[in-house]
Amino acid sequence: MTVVQDLTAAVPTPADWAGAAPAPVGADQAFNGYVAGTVINALDRLGIWDRLAADPLLDLRVLAAETGPAVRERVLREIVRAAATCGWVRLQNNGDTALLTTAGQEIIRMRGYFTWGVGGYDEVFAQAHRIASGEAAFGTDVRRDEAMVALGSGQNDRSFMAGTLDSVLADVDFSVLADLGSGISARVSRVVGERPGTRGLGLDISGPATELGHRTIAEAGLTDRVRAIRTDVLDVCHRAAHRETLAEVDTVMSFFLLHDLLADPETRPHTFTRLREAFPAARTFVLADTMLRPGSEDSRTLPVFSLGYELAHALMGVPLHTKETYEELFAGAGLVPRRVVPFGTPHSWLYVLEAR
Ligand SMILES: C[S@@+](CC[C@H](N)C(=O)[O-])C[C@H]1O[C@@H](n2cnc3c(N)ncnc32)[C@H](O)[C@@H]1O
Repeated sequence: MTVVQDLTAAVPTPADWAGAAPAPVGADQAFNGYVAGTVINALDRLGIWDRLAADPLLDLRVLAAETGPAVRERVLREIVRAAATCGWVRLQNNGDTALLTTAGQEIIRMRGYFTWGVGGYDEVFAQAHRIASGEAAFGTDVRRDEAMVALGSGQNDRSFMAGTLDSVLADVDFSVLADLGSGISARVSRVVGERPGTRGLGLDISGPATELGHRTIAEAGLTDRVRAIRTDVLDVCHRAAHRETLAEVDTVMSFFLLHDLLADPETRPHTFTRLREAFPAARTFVLADTMLRPGSEDSRTLPVFSLGYELAHALMGVPLHTKETYEELFAGAGLVPRRVVPFGTPHSWLYVLEAR
């Protein structure tokens, strides 16, 4: 067995990874949490959080007028009223204006989790019983909304991960960067956009996410420097897809995809070695993923996200792995950690690895 130095032993685990939500979860919390999550997602899809982020006082008559010709104003107002019941806005002027509260500001910061969960995985969770009984299977009868999964990840990146990544990348010298499982290509566009003279590739399996990626790149004015390519990274690793295009990549990054690449136990031990071969010029790998939460059944408190992440992946048949397993797999591929930092979402670690 490979012995791996535990680089993270000295890094304190962030307090919010243990969470503050009580377990056991009461029926009132479970029910209200379920409905509240759908309200957060509805407000996001309607652009209301964006408006409140720009101006904390929202005139609901203006909102209704600008929401579109088919707007159902009463429904719109009831959704905002539900947000007020949750304490995220305060209704004023006989209910014609909504004022963002401090709790609402925090929801705006964390809304990516709800885009991910309600927007991306609602069907998977709703069909859990049919997946368990064998009446339905993920991937054929039941699907996730990949664009929403990618969009939610992108929102979280902007809210509370970008700063960490920027400080880590400040020490990484790169000319051509590839982002594997790049979602809507927001990260690769931001990182390349901030470093003149560099170029980037965003690789993602999802058609809808890649389409959104083309849009992100165009909006950032980076069509000459960043490309979104729709491809399965497993084909890149195991079937030599896109070899010529990838030959010049000197730095590979990937966020929240690795567990998918490691799903198959047959290929798992060699996946990172194959990844290195697919990017022969790459010396640095910046890799982050959400890992298996230690002692999850016994915890008296729950953090945001972890329960949903663990259940969603169980329903999709994708196993999750401990930090120790990742470190063993890195070591087996000659990827040596230079830096390890907590990466925003509970139980997520970011590694800067050197290819030796
Ligand atoms: C959780 S999202 C993360 C997106 C982005 N990396 C981020 O952190 O914002 C995972 C992304 O990986 C993509 N993905 C999943 N399996 C893939 C595969 N085999 N090859 C390429 N992309 C894949 C999904 O379509 C999705 O966009």
